[in-house]
Amino acid sequence: MHKSIVLLPGDGIGPEVVAEARKTITAIAQRFGHDFVLEERALGGNAIDEFGDPLPQSTLAACRSADAVILGAVGGPKWDDPNAKTRPEAGLLGLRKELGLFANLRPIRPHRQLIDASPLRPDLIAGVDILFFRELTGGIYFGPSSVSNDGTTAHSEMVYHTYEVERIVRLAAEAARARDNHLTSVDKANVLEVSRLWRRVAGRVMAEEFPDVNYDVVLVDAMAMHLIARPASFDVVVTGNLFGDILTDESSMLPGSLGMLPSASIGETEPGLYEPIHGSAPDIAGRGLANPLATILATAMALRHSLEMEREAAAVETAVNQVLDDGLRTTDIATADEAVVSTTTMGDAVATAIGSPPT
Ligand code: IPM
Ligand code: MG
Repeated sequence: MHKSIVLLPGDGIGPEVVAEARKTITAIAQRFGHDFVLEERALGGNAIDEFGDPLPQSTLAACRSADAVILGAVGGPKWDDPNAKTRPEAGLLGLRKELGLFANLRPIRPHRQLIDASPLRPDLIAGVDILFFRELTGGIYFGPSSVSNDGTTAHSEMVYHTYEVERIVRLAAEAARARDNHLTSVDKANVLEVSRLWRRVAGRVMAEEFPDVNYDVVLVDAMAMHLIARPASFDVVVTGNLFGDILTDESSMLPGSLGMLPSASIGETEPGLYEPIHGSAPDIAGRGLANPLATILATAMALRHSLEMEREAAAVETAVNQVLDDGLRTTDIATADEAVVSTTTMGDAVATAIGSPPT
């Protein structure tokens, strides 16, 4: 099959982890006889340096005509000047918005080999398998905002329209049906008007269209607690942009490292965007310390959700399991007495495992 994939390495450790994802894609192409056309484009800080724009038109155009887009990470101290015209993050937010990627899927499933990498007790994380649906193109990230002329007051507004809540709740409820049939919606309806709208709309969609799905609502502050106290009791979780951003970083500690978690951003028509949940980690950039597995697992999600290659996606996930079984650990997932491998060693091992699957 012929497919085009755009790679957006981005900043910090982004280029290092995307280079390993590229090896994964090449290994899959070889094993399954596919023809993938890979194209690299600028996004984020490097795009500001090169084009004066964190989301250059050439990048956007390439993404629009691709079958899938794989991103490393954007941002870093070099572009952190509060007085700068633009920021790397604006490139990522703009890309999500332009491609209409309103649903961000973040699966949280600890690997059994890494139970000791989690700061939580093994009995708490046993059986954890959560799929977050984070609304990605609305809410406070995209509401009106301003700062007063004298710089002493600022405001950012959280806005949700009925259609935005309906479409993400529908996707999440459909996913729940295919899993454990349990959906939890998270809001702050005891305080925020916008959350009361969210709760009303979500409740109506569930009652009218998904009466067979077990549905509950949880306030976001309580959810922060429950995710630590009883994470195994959740199945699919749907929430707004900001709450989802925070709760998924918190949840990353269940599997033990942000370095293991992929995410998929999808919309109605445009190609999906696949990325690790972690950021650009400028403190470890360029040192071969980054864990490429989140980006490699994001590549598996791209194969599954955008390229309709389930067997290929499963082959990537099997290979990741295999290298973990073989004891390969980057520094973020190694316990004190375990030997540590570099970013490239980990990526090479996954590519090799794809090429020689277990028989
Ligand atoms: C994420 C990140 C982004 C976000 C940043 C880099 C803009 O934290 O994808 O979770 O806040 O959405
Ligand atoms: Mg985040």
